[in-house]
Amino acid sequence: MVPPFVSLCLPHTFFFFFGCLLCTAGNNACLMPLLWAVQSRDTVFYDTPRLVYHIDEFAVGALTSYYARTLPPKADVLDLCSSWVSHLPDDYEAGSVTGLGMVTAELDKNPRLTTRVTQDLNENPSLPFEDASFDVITNVVSVDYLTQPLAIFKEMARVLRPGGSAVMSFSNRCFPSKAIDIWLRTSDMEHAFIVGCYFHYAGGFGPPQAQDISPNPGITDPMFIVRAMKR
Ligand SMILES: C[S@@+](CC[C@H](N)C(=O)[O-])C[C@H]1O[C@@H](n2cnc3c(N)ncnc32)[C@H](O)[C@@H]1O
Repeated sequence: MVPPFVSLCLPHTFFFFFGCLLCTAGNNACLMPLLWAVQSRDTVFYDTPRLVYHIDEFAVGALTSYYARTLPPKADVLDLCSSWVSHLPDDYEAGSVTGLGMVTAELDKNPRLTTRVTQDLNENPSLPFEDASFDVITNVVSVDYLTQPLAIFKEMARVLRPGGSAVMSFSNRCFPSKAIDIWLRTSDMEHAFIVGCYFHYAGGFGPPQAQDISPNPGITDPMFIVRAMKR
């Protein structure tokens, strides 16, 4: 008779000897080769570039129009969780646009970027920039993937110039295996509160403001903004 404790250990012993680990990727238990186990989950997830839009054309249009209305001229922009597209208006003249994301091949395809940084913010939330380097920080449909949000928002406050703004935008779509647990259990409105709390508790920002810029509520992808100004 095998004691329950031992029988629980047996599968792990088995997979150890066969060079595999039993691990949890998102909501699904799966086997990963030992090689993968030394990489972070994000590195595995972003092994392959995704040169796609993550929201529909109406939501993209709403965000680009919002930027057209609100971005100060000639701003130095930091696009966090950047990819092949930053959704800036074609005729918007930035001072500079720095993109930080996980996939070099995606960043290389982004024509708006003047500087590209490949970094996993969940592994290393320190932003590799001097204090007060940027006028605007954007993060499009990715704030829900940050597992150390307070550390990153503190860093955002550090690298923003006084009076600069951080603009977090999100819809109601995500990769469920990537999003943090609380995001999956909460509504659109609660997502705005969550992001507002990030600003509030990180410190260094004025009161966060939320805005629903959904172009066709209830019909096409919604779009929400939570933004705050660096004090
Ligand atoms: C849903 S896509 C959004 C891309 C882009 N912002 C857009 O609007 O299409 C998520 C992006 O966030 C980046 N990302 C995800 N997790 C990240 C992390 N831990 N650190 C840095 N970037 C990350 C990935 O490189 C990926 O391109």
